[in-house]
Amino acid sequence: MKTGYVQFNPAFGEVNRNLDRVEALIEGAQADLLVLPELFNTGYLITSKEEIAALAEEVPGGPTTRRLAAVAKRRNLHLVAGMAERSGDRIYNAAVLISPAGHVATYRKVHLFFEEKLWFDPGDGEFPVYDIGACRVGIMVCFDWFFPEAMRTLALKGAQVVCHPANLVLPYCQAAMLTRCLENRVFAVTCNRTGTEHRGGKSLRYTGKSQITDTVGDILSRAGEDEECVGVFEIDPAKALDKQLNAHNNLFGDRRPSFYRDICR
Ligand code: ACM
Repeated sequence: MKTGYVQFNPAFGEVNRNLDRVEALIEGAQADLLVLPELFNTGYLITSKEEIAALAEEVPGGPTTRRLAAVAKRRNLHLVAGMAERSGDRIYNAAVLISPAGHVATYRKVHLFFEEKLWFDPGDGEFPVYDIGACRVGIMVCFDWFFPEAMRTLALKGAQVVCHPANLVLPYCQAAMLTRCLENRVFAVTCNRTGTEHRGGKSLRYTGKSQITDTVGDILSRAGEDEECVGVFEIDPAKALDKQLNAHNNLFGDRRPSFYRDICR
């Protein structure tokens, strides 16, 4: 299964330009599953609730989901893409899963980072896992990585590949994902953005280095800090089904949940 990331520098508020850029990058790629950054179509550095409310779109009826569905159909691939979703009077930092047949699911970010708490409603799903034919995928968005419970939940539910749209501004996630993958024996595709945003007197620099990580914590592909690129690696998702660490240890079988009750309080 050819799995990868589409790393680029979204321009704030220029949804059509960002969609054009992504479509051009995907055009040259041979892949079965591609992950796009968090908020790939709008940009990240929001300055007011009104601003993001105007940019957020309905899913699956909005123009971004429809355009992604057309790309997935034409290129016969699956996409996971971060975008702002409007649902009634709520706005979510969401990620959509799109198959060649259209929109499959929407995940709404559970752990909102910093000022995201001013702009978005927190996600209300329980880290669902989706069978896309070649494997089962789970979705988490950026800062969710900081909470090991998120990826553990996805792994326990059978995710083999964790799709991880991100807009990373701190340098820790890429290294931490080696441990997240190792401790859950799953693959992960972390798709970050590049560039710097200056808005409303604030600025953020994004760290690039999108990454595909395997089930034993090795990096299969890593992008540069500033390059706009598609990185693809052929993985065998079946490897994520094998939780046997050695003759005596099974990752899931050796868990002792009765001693972990405090983390669910
Ligand atoms: C983040 O969650 N965008 C850091």
